[in-house]
Amino acid sequence: MPVITNIEDLRRLARRKVPKALFDYVDTGSYDELSYRANSAELKAIRFRQRILIDTGERKLSTTMLGEKVAMPVAIAPTGLAGLLYGDGEMVAARAAEDAGIRYCLSTMSICSIEDIRSATKGPFWFQLYVFRDRAFSEQILARAHAAGCTALFVTVDLPMRGQRHADLKNGLEVPPRLTPRNVFDIATKPAWAMSVLRGKRKTFGNIATFLHQKAQTGALAAGRWAQENYDPTLSWNDIAWMRKVWPGKLVLKGVLDAEDAKKAADHGVDAIVVSNHGGRQLDGAPATIVALPRIADAAGDRIEILFDGGVRSGQDVLKALALGARGCFIGRAHLYGLAAMGGAGVTKALSLIESELRLSMALTGVRDVAEVSRDILFDDYSARLRNV
Ligand code: FNR
Repeated sequence: MPVITNIEDLRRLARRKVPKALFDYVDTGSYDELSYRANSAELKAIRFRQRILIDTGERKLSTTMLGEKVAMPVAIAPTGLAGLLYGDGEMVAARAAEDAGIRYCLSTMSICSIEDIRSATKGPFWFQLYVFRDRAFSEQILARAHAAGCTALFVTVDLPMRGQRHADLKNGLEVPPRLTPRNVFDIATKPAWAMSVLRGKRKTFGNIATFLHQKAQTGALAAGRWAQENYDPTLSWNDIAWMRKVWPGKLVLKGVLDAEDAKKAADHGVDAIVVSNHGGRQLDGAPATIVALPRIADAAGDRIEILFDGGVRSGQDVLKALALGARGCFIGRAHLYGLAAMGGAGVTKALSLIESELRLSMALTGVRDVAEVSRDILFDDYSARLRNV
């Protein structure tokens, strides 16, 4: 077992463990990957002020996200197909999040269903909604999320149509995996992965399959195809107003990248937004999320909670996002690399790496409490620099 000291180690291990088509699904962005690469590159370009002789013997990482107590300002981002990276992947990851005292957000496009996550965990979890053309799906899944005790609904608003990732097309990625000679060879060389996924409870989109089953349309392929054909480009602010009326919990828009949209979200009574470009998987050429963050924080941070994702691979990245106005960060790929590499232990490893990096970086920047982090900890006036990008 190699010594794992950072998220990149988990990424390398993940590449060896899962079939190429699945690794590529996680590890790529849309089209030329400009936004995908920019997310990490812009975060890395930011420098801290190194401060000295400040008593940081006690550091407080615990805080609240959406009014809920969390052990650190990090949550797990909703990601489709996690249950194909490792058997029962979403259940495994949700348990690791619960053990670490942070929140797990389940994707609509998960393999395990809302009810599976409910049975695997004790505490609250969050749910991410894709709004499909068939609004009966939204109505039913909101009722299921509520019944399962989900405290927050994340409506993804940056995917009226699905972005294109070249690798997925070239690899013929399908759910369940298409058995081409190349795929069969690839799977045959990953026996531990195959055993884990075969032993898992589900092999197709758990949330959608249940819905289609009730409509007497069954089968794994039916669920995948139905989703592909049902993303809804007519989604508008009127739908958000409707959701605000029918969803009793916290309502969050995921995929906001523009200050005007952030203000509109606040006008619509939304509780929080996630500044996100879908991990560089949607609009290629959209700005890096860390570049958009300070502008959005300036425009709407006093009216709405601001959450952040995109390119977060370390505790330093989390600290930088907090400095530029985020209340907390979501990690997508960072937890998926862990899951693909080592299942639940890998997610736990990813979270503990980020936690210890955050703890150390707080000491070296003279921060005692994550709630006190401000732009003051950055070396330059990065907010001004980023405004001029
Ligand atoms: C995603 N993301 C995503 N978002 C969402 O709202 N619903 C989903 O089903 C998915 N699926 C998904 C799959 C995979 C493999 C990835 C990498 C991402 C986007 C995700 O929630 C988040 O916005 C990004 O992952 C954040 O960027 P990083 O942390 O991956 O750099």
